[in-house]
Amino acid sequence: PLSAMEQEAEITQEMGSLHGIPLYKSFIEGWPQVKAFQARPDDLLISTYPKSGTTWLSEIMDMIYHDGDAEKCRRDAIYNRVPFLELKAPMETSGVELLENTPSPRLVKTHLPVQLLPNSFWEKDCKIIYMARNPKDVAISYYYFHQMAKIHHDPGTKAEFLENFMAGKVPYGSWYDHVRGWWEKKQEKKILYLFYEDMKKDPRQEVQKILQFLGKELTEGTVDRILHHTSFQEMKKNPAANYETVLPTLMDHSISPFLRKGISGDWKNHFTVAQNERFDQHYQKLMAGSDLHFQME
Ligand code: A3P
Repeated sequence: PLSAMEQEAEITQEMGSLHGIPLYKSFIEGWPQVKAFQARPDDLLISTYPKSGTTWLSEIMDMIYHDGDAEKCRRDAIYNRVPFLELKAPMETSGVELLENTPSPRLVKTHLPVQLLPNSFWEKDCKIIYMARNPKDVAISYYYFHQMAKIHHDPGTKAEFLENFMAGKVPYGSWYDHVRGWWEKKQEKKILYLFYEDMKKDPRQEVQKILQFLGKELTEGTVDRILHHTSFQEMKKNPAANYETVLPTLMDHSISPFLRKGISGDWKNHFTVAQNERFDQHYQKLMAGSDLHFQME
């Protein structure tokens, strides 16, 4: 057996570059399998920049797929019910392997920027739901995630992390490029583009948008059950949704729980006035010319 130090050395990943996007080296090693991934026409892709509400949307989708049957959605952990396409870690089942063994219709999770999505999702004309979240909350959520998820090196101070986030020197690269890239793709492809802030404000309306996109109808009572089961409070105490079943060597929830706060505007508790001004200026520059707009709270 490996010593604690050796285990840690295996878990923490150096960053490499995948076609210019900073990514964990183990994921890059698995890239040939991801690139060659064979999507099925009835796959539904859940695409996000990290920390934008992926797990929340995944749980909602699994509930919709199971007509609001919460017990069925406890059959396994969320990372097995909605496999993470590009996941690759030493000695573990890769996302691609897990997906190959998943019966249709599959829900697939990815954080890949639009230009790196394996071609077969486009060829098979798969349905895609993208969820975006305002960058200030993403940055703060990502900072805490770097501390609790041991694949990451120590992220340094919040100020340092914020600089890295703005510069795109974090896993999956520039948030700005990610949200804009997927937004622009919406012009030509079947993509439902959702916002975390809308989901917080009016989850019923957003679930209705999803149902319409799927061409599916559910009774009001079923939608009620879905909304209840996927609320922050319910998900936080649900071991099938809260990631507490992953090995403690991979995630340390005592540092920061995976379901940490689940609100919009938490950045206000973290950004200094100067940091906020700098962030806003930089945001204006990088988002200039786009009709994509974010609610910062
Ligand atoms: P915070 O760190 O701000 O709390 P992802 O799943 O993409 O990694 O995103 C994680 C973020 O989504 C975390 O944000 C987490 O708390 C939040 N989240 C997860 N489930 C949620 C829910 N049901 N309602 C609101 N936010 C949720």
